[in-house]
Order: sequence, then C-alpha cells, then structure tokens
Amino acid sequence: MKKIAIMGAMPEEVAPILEKLGEYKTTKYADNEYYEATYKGVEVVVAYSKIGKVFSTLTASTMIQHFGCDKLLFSGVAGGINPSLKVGDLIVATKLSQHDLDITAFGHPFGFVPEGAVYVDADKEMIAMSKEVASDMGKTVQEGIIATGDQFVANEERKNWIGETFNADALEMEGASVAVVCNALDVPFFILRAISDAADMDASFSFDEFLETSAIISAEFVMKMLDKVIAK
Ligand code: ADE
Repeated sequence: MKKIAIMGAMPEEVAPILEKLGEYKTTKYADNEYYEATYKGVEVVVAYSKIGKVFSTLTASTMIQHFGCDKLLFSGVAGGINPSLKVGDLIVATKLSQHDLDITAFGHPFGFVPEGAVYVDADKEMIAMSKEVASDMGKTVQEGIIATGDQFVANEERKNWIGETFNADALEMEGASVAVVCNALDVPFFILRAISDAADMDASFSFDEFLETSAIISAEFVMKMLDKVIAK
C-alpha cells in the first residue's frame, strides 16, 4: 500500500500543494505540523521541515518512520550554479551531496565521511517518470547534481567552488540530508527544485522576489509527478 510523503522546507513551498489537495488533517508531532490527506484514493502526508539539513532530516525521518510513508517527493527552490539554469527553470536531482561536510583534514574528499558516500543517487524510476511528466506538460526539465549545505550561498566564489568540487548544477539547503535519510531507510525519493536565484551577490534579493513563483512552478510539477506515481 502506497503512502506518499510530499515535503518542502518553507511554508511557501508546500502551500500550493496543500491548496491542490483541498481537505487535510493537521497533526502535530516532534515540534512540527504534518498534513494528512487522501488524494485520488492514496494517502499523502505533506510537511515543510523548516530550513536546513537538521530540520529536513527530522521531517523526512518522521514522515517515513512515524507516518509510514514509503515514497518521498520533495518540492522547492534552489540557487542555480549551471548558467543554463535561469530563474523559474526546473532541475531534477540525479544525485545529491553535502557541500559543507568537510573532514578533508583526514585525507577524505569533501562531502565524505567514513561509511558514507559523497553522493546519494535519487530513484531512477521517478527520474524517468519526470521526463514523461515534462513532455506531458510541454516543459523542459534539466537533470543534474544538487549540492546541499547549511548556508544560503550569495557569493560567486563559494558558488563556483561548489560547482567545481561537486560538479553541481544547483544548490540548496535540504536535498542531500533528505536523500541520506531515504537511502538509509530504503525509501525511493525524488527531489525537484525550481531556480529562485543564481547564488551570487544578488541572491537574497532574487530569492525574495522569486521564492513564491518558483515554489509554485515546482509544486505544480510535483503534483503531476504525484499523479504519475499513483497511476503506476
Ligand atoms: N535555495 C535557494 N537559493 C539558495 C541559495 N542561494 N543558497 C542556498 N539555498 C538556496
């Protein structure tokens, strides 16, 4: 039996999803709110985690271990690294890495700790489905590597370093931590982001201006993904 988690980090990222679901039940758990609904006969649990790796880890774990979700879709915004990604463009994560995980002092690569991995792969089946969704919607969606860290990047130099070190196309603050949780608990996951800024000196202004519109673009796509996942 399917129970699908739909996650964002900020209220703006899940508001358009809740709007589409219509009626839902709100449950408080572990200092957060979880919104449970039935959509096309399937149970879904929606939540925004709050920003960053720790809160997103807590929320993803809760959705899986407490609410029993067995698939996870993430919707939100990101800073673009790859210059081909403009504000409003969509990126589907093929794999994710933590750019601020650093024990290089012990000879390990950035993003690596013993018994971990630099990258966590997203679910290939859902990535393939996203191509169908994109073509159904007449949209282009770029696949790429997403780098995650507890840092709003508003600096060209840092952005370029993340791009070069992880071969990353976009950056944000939750994807890789959600990926680690889902991977450890054997839950297929899909991470989608719409670009809100270019992680440069204008990033905070661009973010404030485009958070809502880009969040809606991502949420609309994730809802179509949900339809496809349910239909499977
Ligand atoms: N999410 C959206 N834009 C971002 C940025 N510039 N840095 C980190 N997370 C982001």
